[in-house]
Amino acid sequence: MLSRKVPLDTAPALVAPTYASRGMAHTIPRFELPEESMEPRAAYQLIHDELALDANPSLNLATFVTTYMDDEAARLMAETANKNAIDWDEYPQTVGLQDRCVNMLSRLFGADERHDSVGTATVGSSEAIHLAGLAMKFRWRNARRAAGLPCDRPNIVMGGNVQVCWEKFARYFDVEPRYVALTPTRFIIGVDEAMALVDENTIGVVGILGSTYTGEYEPIAALDAALTALCEKNGGDWDVPLHVDAASGGFVAPFLSPELLWDFRLPRVRSINVSGHKYGLVYPGVGWVLWRESSDLPSELIFEVDYLGGSHANFGLNFSRGAAQIVAQYYNLIRLGRQGYTEIMVTLAETARWLATELALLDGLEIVAGGTDLPVVCARLADDVPFSVFDLADRLRLRGWVVPAYRMAAEAQAVAVLRIVVREGLSRDMAECFVADVVGAIDHLGTSPPTAPVAADPCNPAAANPRSAAAASQLAGVARVPGTKHVTEVKEIVDSKTKAVC
Ligand SMILES: Cc1ncc(COP(=O)(O)O)c(C=O)c1O
Repeated sequence: MLSRKVPLDTAPALVAPTYASRGMAHTIPRFELPEESMEPRAAYQLIHDELALDANPSLNLATFVTTYMDDEAARLMAETANKNAIDWDEYPQTVGLQDRCVNMLSRLFGADERHDSVGTATVGSSEAIHLAGLAMKFRWRNARRAAGLPCDRPNIVMGGNVQVCWEKFARYFDVEPRYVALTPTRFIIGVDEAMALVDENTIGVVGILGSTYTGEYEPIAALDAALTALCEKNGGDWDVPLHVDAASGGFVAPFLSPELLWDFRLPRVRSINVSGHKYGLVYPGVGWVLWRESSDLPSELIFEVDYLGGSHANFGLNFSRGAAQIVAQYYNLIRLGRQGYTEIMVTLAETARWLATELALLDGLEIVAGGTDLPVVCARLADDVPFSVFDLADRLRLRGWVVPAYRMAAEAQAVAVLRIVVREGLSRDMAECFVADVVGAIDHLGTSPPTAPVAADPCNPAAANPRSAAAASQLAGVARVPGTKHVTEVKEIVDSKTKAVC
């Protein structure tokens, strides 16, 4: 999030709570460094109280990111909060835990013993995707240079439903993004449509295992086969790799659908990212990026860093980063094992499907995705309903539920949905309470429809939805709308990415 400097003449002072204590009775400036110190207890209380205004993470059905961990994991995280993961020589055991995680994940993702897979922890899938994208770009460029061909116009092919981090990658690293258009009934990539965009300058094709918008899996095996056919058709010259963005699905599919081919078992899948802090069940922020073979990661991207003692290979956008999340990932992997992850994912999938079935019974609600892939439920309103999904989301907020309402990407913007991400912590009991609240909200909105329903205009949704306009301006610079090129224009957008991000 970008924060802005605020003029001091418009900035109110922050008043400390009193709590019958002199140490808590004075004011401090909100936007300037206070001149004096304060007691730790006072600082704690001040911040603690202010954070109470945030939503309750347990009722946050918007995020994919973990909001519950075992006490033992939280204890390990607190014990390692003062460790920097980059200090390899100082904390060799922590490095060892990362090595074990990379090993476990590459095998979980179908790397067999012939593959000399490599990978690294990242801050999340976004960093992982930037690294994977760079590897694809450098690999493509090296091949083009070796063949004496021009290498100034790289492109990447992906569905219009990609998470905003892919758009960032393309913009930050000067790669032309080629989006497969969605349709009002297809909210994920189309295989033929994707192949039509591939050419000799394509550094890679992206398949998403679990679309952010609907939770649907993209047809990775079909993309793989189509790329191989395309390569053969072009005399073996277009050796285009497939990257799988398994930010959410990487910790779901191996446990719920082990037979589904989406990973390194497919020949064209050269790299995979996964968010440890989503269904890997770790608090934010940890992600992973893995390459099937070390040759998929061009060596010039790897830095040998030796000034902290010893010499170590580093590939990352950050240098320093917390070690606690890596430790917590390892904790989950050994604490849960295949059995534990499977039990959790089965339960989440059952809850999602139950929720979809119950919501489908309600007048006016139609299920767009019912938890058959990721444990995510996506619902829209029938055309004749006198209120919008945005109104429904607002109404649910009164009961504390945070449920995002957003429009599908680009060409499918006519479709607006509510999305419920089922995570650990949303028990069946809580899900029943949620359904009861949806029934109450629909009853209320049906009998007292809003005079001006929030019905974001697909062409300029921000104008029709001031709340979303605020969200868009907060997130300025991270959303894409077709034809939008500059950060300053982003205020005009309420691309669903601003609502569906997590
Ligand atoms: C498919 C997909 N890719 C990438 C990301 C970005 O992940 P992160 O938040 O871990 O950076 C998300 C986030 O929701 C996602 O859903």
